[in-house]
Amino acid sequence: MSMVLASYLLCAIFLLVLLRILRRKFPVYSKPNLPPGSMGWPFLGETLQLYSHHPDSFFATRQARYGEIFKTHILGCPCVMLASPDAIRFVLVAHSSLFKPTYPPSKERLIGPSALFFHQGAYHSQIKKLVQESLSLDVIRHMVPQVDSIAVSALESWSSAGIVSTFHQMKEFTFDVAVSSIFGHLGACHKEKLKRNYFVLDRGYNCFPLNFPGSLYRKSVMAREALSNIIQDIVQQRKEETTMQKRDLLGYMLNFRGGEKGEPLTENQISDNIIGVLFAAQDTTASLLTWILKYLHDNSDVLESVRAEQAAIYRANEEGKQPLTWAQTRKMVVTNRVIMESMRMASIISFTFREAVADVEYKAIYDDQ
Ligand code: HEM
Repeated sequence: MSMVLASYLLCAIFLLVLLRILRRKFPVYSKPNLPPGSMGWPFLGETLQLYSHHPDSFFATRQARYGEIFKTHILGCPCVMLASPDAIRFVLVAHSSLFKPTYPPSKERLIGPSALFFHQGAYHSQIKKLVQESLSLDVIRHMVPQVDSIAVSALESWSSAGIVSTFHQMKEFTFDVAVSSIFGHLGACHKEKLKRNYFVLDRGYNCFPLNFPGSLYRKSVMAREALSNIIQDIVQQRKEETTMQKRDLLGYMLNFRGGEKGEPLTENQISDNIIGVLFAAQDTTASLLTWILKYLHDNSDVLESVRAEQAAIYRANEEGKQPLTWAQTRKMVVTNRVIMESMRMASIISFTFREAVADVEYKAIYDDQ
């Protein structure tokens, strides 16, 4: 009898150990306590549902049904959506080392895999430093008259255009500013080609990623290839110029030397990062400007104060005959407050992506995806 009991006990211990090993090696056996939600159809997940509804209603319905943390499967990625400040702080701040930036492959392809958003570590820091240098206070200070003249010509074109779409016009304006910050002065032909292809790329970025002839996504992929070629052309032209010491992003990238051997950036690293920065800077700033206009429209007393502040500067500059100066932008107290308050109120970036690099447990919810 004691022999039988001992064998049972040994078997039980063996099974427990085996289960533990299996759980460690193959988390699928561990029945993780995933958050509520639906993983949808095999392969497709809930991608079709996302694209057949307004994205806000797709997320709002699930948030109402499952709460602020739910699982889903979109654009080929099993994922957990987080919609509470606490959970987001957990991922982006408190436990950021458990996550890495990973975007759905269809989006990464359009921006370019070498763009800094998809990297961590030394490469990420180096590129980020170049972007920051190209936007240092000293560089921005010298850009004021240029941005001023882009704004004046945008205003003139709106006054003769009749009804305009605010967001679209803001996108055109921020595109012109971003291009001038990235490339400095650029010939009209290159600028026009960049703009045409960039807006095709932009239209397809959030569309259903079906890559067949005629689809929006395919047009975006092709526009992305064209953008790379245009950037290579601009780079080639810049290399032939006598001075490469320009203080625009392209100048900083071309002068960069990294690693022990002082390696320059490759052509793909330059074009992926230029397209990435254009993307990061242009749409966000255009959204913010659109929100500012809406808030000013809704608050006529604030609008009057901003108008009075700007009118005083306009008069001081001889009715616009003198260019706006950096010092004047520093004294726009009311205007700056409006910008800061609009950034606080408007949600410019609706969501971002992260991939767990280890098992993550959050409030007893366990995620092994
Ligand atoms: C109102 C305007 C803007 C908003 C609301 C905004 C918001 C954000 C947010 C939320 C992120 C983090 C995304 C993530 O971690 O997944 C980000 C990253 C980034 N943004 Fe902006 N942004 C704005 C303007 C700009 C501009 C003008 C530039 C111009 C260079 C820029 C360049 C970048 C870059 C390079 C990153 C990646 C940083 C990194 O990977 O460490 N952004 N932005």
